[in-house]
Amino acid sequence: MNPNTPQARARNAAARRPGRLAAAVAAALLAAAPGCTDMYDQPRYEPYEASPLFSNGASARTLVAGTVPRDDARRLPAVEDRDLLLTGLKDGQLSKTSPLAVDAELLARGRQRYNIFCTPCHGQLGDGRGVIVQRGFSPPPNYTDPRLVEAPLGHFFKVMTEGHGAMYSFAARVAPQDRWAIAAYIRALQLSQGARPADLPAEDQQKLEGAGK
Ligand code: HEC
Repeated sequence: MNPNTPQARARNAAARRPGRLAAAVAAALLAAAPGCTDMYDQPRYEPYEASPLFSNGASARTLVAGTVPRDDARRLPAVEDRDLLLTGLKDGQLSKTSPLAVDAELLARGRQRYNIFCTPCHGQLGDGRGVIVQRGFSPPPNYTDPRLVEAPLGHFFKVMTEGHGAMYSFAARVAPQDRWAIAAYIRALQLSQGARPADLPAEDQQKLEGAGK
């Protein structure tokens, strides 16, 4: 049979119609199904995606050389070593000290931020038994692990900034100065669990002896 006669074409079209209907139904179902990519693949440019719009072939303009982000400059504390504040590194090595003065105020801030951002996994004691871990998330090491007791302060800053293994980065949620506050508080947690009476100031040693009587 010649498939090009008008009759044959009509027959073929009719034969295809149920197929088309099924395809339309499937498409409609897909559009409503969870996991559809319509929201994900929107008709817009990703940052710096290729485009014929500008002569350099990118969809967005590059920043003028020497641009300083105003936001950061306004919110960061004034410190001597800004690189240390932002990287945790001193002369290319993880820093042993904080760029901020470690006082009661910083520790209080660190404790508050720690309790918000870290306890869900690390627990209030830092023993890695937070509630998410109790529900099955991979357990972090105890902060009293000798390796972490020995680790320079900058290590904690770096772990929060970059993430570590199964732990995601906190750079977008916790400002650099708060990351240092948390790092100082983790030191306090470590000390609090390995402290000997001789580490206390004389006044507190006396109180401790008095308490035992
Ligand atoms: C969602 C759970 C989770 C949260 C929240 C979390 N961590 Fe972790 N953390 C982990 C896990 C899991 C590991 C172990 C990662 C690995 O070794 O793969 C870890 C490891 C660490 C380590 C040890 C790195 C090393 O050298 O072994 C430090 C320090 C640390 N986290 C600090 C923090 C601080 C500070 C916060 C809060 C700002 C925080 N974590 C929030 C899950 C978490």
